[in-house]
Amino acid sequence: MPALKTKTAYVCQNCGAVEPRWLGRCPSCGGWNTFVEERVERKTAKPSATFQEPTALQAVAFEETGRVPVGIAEFDRVLGGGAVEGSAILVGGDPGIGKSTLLLQAAGRLARQGATVLYVSGEESLLQLKSRAQRLEIHQEGIWFLAETRLEVILEQLKKIKAGILIFDSIQTISSGQLFSPPGSVGQLREATQVLVERVKTSGEILFLVGHVTKDGFLAGPKVLEHMVDTVLYFEGEKNHFYRILRGVKNRFGSTAEIGIFQMTEKGLVEVENPSGFFLGERSGASSGSVVVAALDGNRPLLLEVQALVTPTPWGTPQRVVGGFDPRRLALILAVLEKRLGFSFGTKDVFVNVAGGVKIEESACDLGFALALASSLEDVPFDSKSTAVGEVGLGGEIRGVGQIEARVAEALKMGFERILVPLTNVRAMARKFEIEVVGVRKLEEALKKGLK
Ligand code: TYD
Ligand code: MG
Repeated sequence: MPALKTKTAYVCQNCGAVEPRWLGRCPSCGGWNTFVEERVERKTAKPSATFQEPTALQAVAFEETGRVPVGIAEFDRVLGGGAVEGSAILVGGDPGIGKSTLLLQAAGRLARQGATVLYVSGEESLLQLKSRAQRLEIHQEGIWFLAETRLEVILEQLKKIKAGILIFDSIQTISSGQLFSPPGSVGQLREATQVLVERVKTSGEILFLVGHVTKDGFLAGPKVLEHMVDTVLYFEGEKNHFYRILRGVKNRFGSTAEIGIFQMTEKGLVEVENPSGFFLGERSGASSGSVVVAALDGNRPLLLEVQALVTPTPWGTPQRVVGGFDPRRLALILAVLEKRLGFSFGTKDVFVNVAGGVKIEESACDLGFALALASSLEDVPFDSKSTAVGEVGLGGEIRGVGQIEARVAEALKMGFERILVPLTNVRAMARKFEIEVVGVRKLEEALKKGLK
């Protein structure tokens, strides 16, 4: 271990002011809590002897970067076909969501293909890691564990194990002896990440970093790392539901529109190949207040069940309880139903939920919510062989949505016989589908066609 520390300084993240000691308030810009410890490199006086000449773009030989498929299709899909050699991939998510499980399973698959994996854990003991590996039935050779948090020690150990895949779980626990800042601080987090990212750029190793996200945002967390790494994935899901979504938020080597869907089981994460089937699995059939919507998450069509329950308010102020949908969007839809169609929710409690604990973030599913609300209020079931998609405008008009064909195709695949879609979308559809496509222009029309 190097005994001498390199020179470090505290740099204001707001204005760039440099101070030898940490200060609570920046004397130059007045910002509070803006100083972060950074390593100070002594600048060489002479310009570096090697520098690049401008190169004609067409003269540059194009080389496809080497991609290593992890071997878990849903993971590879989000990565853009596999992990790129020499790249750094950050996997963020709430504690307990399954990040360690996902990466250990990835380690197993990669080792099965002959890769050597070093799994550095700063959070768990070797015994804990082994017991998880046991549970996940990972017995492959080629996976090395190291329970260590000191960056310099880890780099020393890396000389002994020539690993092609490096996993750090979590990066928040790793710290460098070069800085005085405590482990987990922004300075340490950045220093460790920078050293590792620079290393893999030249070595060609693939770096996976686990980053915890805390409830109140990103405590010294993934956010500060996003620009330092090549790929940022978030692993999300509701703790008390079993499904998990792996989502790309940044990818230098692929699209961020892809999502991977998993289910957490007794034996780890299992890929969900038919997400619509998975989410519709517990549907109760024809009851009022239930409508299946043809949603889209990233590029992925997903049929989801929207449920509404409208009941008389026993006393006091009517309640509005929403799960998986923006409450303000719900208020808008309720207002349109009242103003344009004469429904009255003033003395009613309204409960709205997306089954399975999924979140719907697009307005393209408005029509489904409107239908579910009207269906529950009137106690008339929505046709269980039908599904719907469309945005509801303030005038009660149904507005067109993106990627209509992918949505219709998914409805067909899941055995629906009919889909209500915005009329503007019907006109633009190039393909014919083996499903009845009903174009609607107004919410009123959709209710007439859907609730019988
Ligand atoms: P974990 O991967 O430790 O989460 P993270 O690293 O994101 O903090 O997994 C968390 C939860 O998953 C834990 O509560 C136990 C559960 N789990 C299973 O249900 N099945 C399994 O096979 C494993 C390994 C974990
Ligand atoms: Mg973990």
